[in-house]
Amino acid sequence: MKSILITGGAGFIGSHVIREFVNKYPEVKIINIDALTYAGNLENLTDVEGSKNYKFIKADITDAKVIFEIFEEHQPEGIIHLAAESHVDRSITNPLDFVITNVIGTVNLLNAANHIWKGKYEGKRFHHVSTDEVYGALGDTGFFTEETSYDPHSPYSASKASSDHFVRAYHDTYGLPVVITNCSNNYGPNHFPEKLIPLCIHNILNNKPLPIYGNGKYTRDWLYVIDHAKAIDLVFHEGKDGGSYNVGGFNEWQNIDLVKELCSQMDEKLKRPSGTCEQLITYVKDRPGHDLRYAIDANKINQELGWKPSVTFEEGLSKTIDWFLDNKGWLENVTSGEYQKYYSTQYN
Ligand code: NAD
Ligand code: TYD
Repeated sequence: MKSILITGGAGFIGSHVIREFVNKYPEVKIINIDALTYAGNLENLTDVEGSKNYKFIKADITDAKVIFEIFEEHQPEGIIHLAAESHVDRSITNPLDFVITNVIGTVNLLNAANHIWKGKYEGKRFHHVSTDEVYGALGDTGFFTEETSYDPHSPYSASKASSDHFVRAYHDTYGLPVVITNCSNNYGPNHFPEKLIPLCIHNILNNKPLPIYGNGKYTRDWLYVIDHAKAIDLVFHEGKDGGSYNVGGFNEWQNIDLVKELCSQMDEKLKRPSGTCEQLITYVKDRPGHDLRYAIDANKINQELGWKPSVTFEEGLSKTIDWFLDNKGWLENVTSGEYQKYYSTQYN
């Protein structure tokens, strides 16, 4: 049985990629490698864990020996690499963790792939999942294209930019077959509540303040996570060798407007009088080095591969809120323990 190895499959985006591949390709063995850090949660995968073509291996991508052994044993034909430290605020507090996982972890995977595929690159593919944040920040106008120069500002984006450069270097130096996707901000079911949207959903449910950094006019381009998983499937199978593809929602929101839209939908769903949730909005100290605006030009993936988002933001947000309302147990589990410590250090 052909196998594809997916790293970070217990995380937010990774779990949706695993689900997409396990269900769509029953003849392919999907192997999920995840260290189960605070962001990894096997509860995200209960619906696929019994599938014949799915296997989970708890392993840390920073452990080169273990990673080599897994590659030797399973001889995957493809790798989709999502495992990472992914939160900008944590990267400001602990930059070295981001270098270790995002840079060294990625190089370990590249070395292992290069080792087992050496001289037999036909039909193989290393897909590196990256972010639009590598391009830095835009002013009020313009878009990131695949040709935009890298200019990362946060320790998170610097570590992702570095990993992207290593992936290209292995393609150019050794001929490793690679593709890279650089995606905008995702949202959807299973989103860990340290990121803006799920954090606000969680706080609204608990009548806690909704912390808006700075003046709230920072802009992000939001994409429903299942649309990202579908873009990864398409680029993994049909993207050009050595190519990179920007993935985005054509959907820019200033943070304050987004939170107001969320509040209005939550008032309705929770049957609270209109304007109730908005009263929780609280402006707090800004994030250091806060990037003003991200906006993706996703025309290349649209024109070359026919990909486009399947839902509007209002629909995607509504589905997301419904998922959180239907999965309050999930939310409670991930916000106990370590999360409380993180929250009080970050916001108090
Ligand atoms: P996440 O933080 O929700 O999940 C990361 C996963 O990686 C977790 O399951 C965690 O346990 C695992 N992991 C972390 N360190 C590991 C290690 N050393 N070894 C093995 N597993 C490890 O992240 P996410 O939001 O799902 O992002 C996934 C990928 O997509 C990341 O590479 C991120 O840079 C990229 N990305 C994210 C977004 C976004 O909006 N969330 C947008 C564009 C790109
Ligand atoms: P986040 O979800 O952390 O994603 P990223 O930093 O990768 O874009 O943040 C999205 C935007 O929301 C970003 O401009 C920072 C802002 N933000 C807040 O205003 N308050 C918060 O509590 C958080 C977590 C983020």
